[in-house]
Amino acid sequence: MSDRRTLRSSAWFAGEGKNAFMHRSWMKNQGLPAHLFDGRPVIGICNTWSELTPCNAHLRSIAEHVKRGVYEAGGLPLEFPVMSLGESNLRPTAMLFRNLASMDVEESIRGNPVDGVILLVGCDKTTPALLMGAASCNLPAIAVSGGPMLNGNFRGQPIGSGTHVWKFYEDVKAGRLSVDDFLSAEQGQSRSAGSCMTMGTASTMASMVEALGIGLPDNAATPAVDARRGVLAHLAGRRIVELVEQDVRMSQILTRQAFENAIRVNGAIGGSTNAVLHLIAIARRIGVELDLDDWDRLGRNVPTIVDLMPSGRYLMEDFYYAGGLRAVMRTLNEVGLLNRDAETVAGKTIGELVADAPNYNEEVIRPLDRPLTTEGGIAVLRGNLAPKGAVIKPSAATPALMQHRGRAIVFENIEHYYARIDDPALEIDPTSVMILKNCGPKGYPGMAEVGNMPLPSKLLKQGVSDMVRISDARMSGTAYGTVVLHTAPEAAAGGTIAFVQDGDLIELDVAGRRLELLVDETELAARRRGWSPPPPPIGGGYQSLFIERVLQADEGCDFDFLVGRRDAGIPRHSH
Ligand code: FES
Ligand code: MG
Repeated sequence: MSDRRTLRSSAWFAGEGKNAFMHRSWMKNQGLPAHLFDGRPVIGICNTWSELTPCNAHLRSIAEHVKRGVYEAGGLPLEFPVMSLGESNLRPTAMLFRNLASMDVEESIRGNPVDGVILLVGCDKTTPALLMGAASCNLPAIAVSGGPMLNGNFRGQPIGSGTHVWKFYEDVKAGRLSVDDFLSAEQGQSRSAGSCMTMGTASTMASMVEALGIGLPDNAATPAVDARRGVLAHLAGRRIVELVEQDVRMSQILTRQAFENAIRVNGAIGGSTNAVLHLIAIARRIGVELDLDDWDRLGRNVPTIVDLMPSGRYLMEDFYYAGGLRAVMRTLNEVGLLNRDAETVAGKTIGELVADAPNYNEEVIRPLDRPLTTEGGIAVLRGNLAPKGAVIKPSAATPALMQHRGRAIVFENIEHYYARIDDPALEIDPTSVMILKNCGPKGYPGMAEVGNMPLPSKLLKQGVSDMVRISDARMSGTAYGTVVLHTAPEAAAGGTIAFVQDGDLIELDVAGRRLELLVDETELAARRRGWSPPPPPIGGGYQSLFIERVLQADEGCDFDFLVGRRDAGIPRHSH
């Protein structure tokens, strides 16, 4: 230990003065012997465990595996809680609190005697929140995802988190499924610890962790209850101690090259549109330039080869058994679509990690010449309806609708949608374009996952399965359809979408990357003059701060004052 460099934590724990006494003495009430304060790496385990975040409810036990690894490598692990964001319960939307949680993470890291951190993440927003907060501190860090649930199973059939909720609910609305059957699918969907086992946002972000190199190999797919998830956590505990000893900071891992890899991997896995917002936000925290055009340019020629719901057939457990994300990255690497020299927290380059990765099932992870969709990735649309961009996931859309011109049916907000969608008098047909306003970052607030608004029952009963939908909202990563999302600027910020009226002609051209409202400028200007922003649902409090400082979707919805790196210098002490 004597040749160890002086670590950050020694500003708290080293020395013989009053302050060092205080810092050590109170810690010793946990039964920590004196030798643990000898200058060894102190590893913070940043835990999003919560019983209100069911997808992360097992992270206390994952933390125990991390601790074993940290102790074994000669470090001192100290677990601490941060705000946990559960997608299924938290209202109005977990996304409203992603930035708040990131502030919690950043300040908890900087204010405490830690030299490196393990980020325990799982449910959708917990991954970006912790990466964003930690990136602003730029200490050595490894993200460990909690892993997906076992495949859902209902009456002998696999069912996917979220994806089947949308599907079953449409079946109920169309009269194909009884309410009793619908309700009995609940337990079958969620039958083990872990996060959604579709390629929704949680699995996408766990894949991004692995693709960015900020997590260990197999982080994406190892099931939550597979013993190998514990092994991964144990090894992460060992590795973080080494990263601290070698002073490998997040900024050495989260490089421009790493983000390019992540974007391409997102295309290959058919990942969630939410990753667009999160990766831009994380990149801007660490100081890497990344924008919407990078998403379109880098992802454009990447075929989706992972056949998982919601775009395809299988689930995360199948993906793991098929070889997981490494098999996907190997495929990309072989055709030059991977920056193979990107460093990872594993101590090898990403190219080295995936070079020999086997693919055990070419139905689940398909070869490039037999993709699920030739054009994976995220298409970025622009036009007068989205001057700062909008996104669509072509792999989840209906090919015939990706070139479409139709009349707008406008919903001013989500309440208006609910009130109007099943009104028998609503003049809507399969060629109509559904427009939903005021569900963006400021408008909802928090940019709700309501962009994939269900179709009207009367059309579902006729067998209509998809229609063009456009909004400033997000969509659950487990959802599908010809759904244009994230229009920027949003309605509540005075974006063009605010001025769309029933009957306006709208043109969507995904191949040409265009989204136009075919209304002339003079008319639009007149509509703009009569507009004022909607009042926020709650005055004051955190929501006011959020509405005032949140950036638009094209900039990742971070707060303007949180962008960037502030590092983890040692603050003044308080005694
Ligand atoms: Fe938590 Fe899907 S609801 S991962
Ligand atoms: Mg979600």
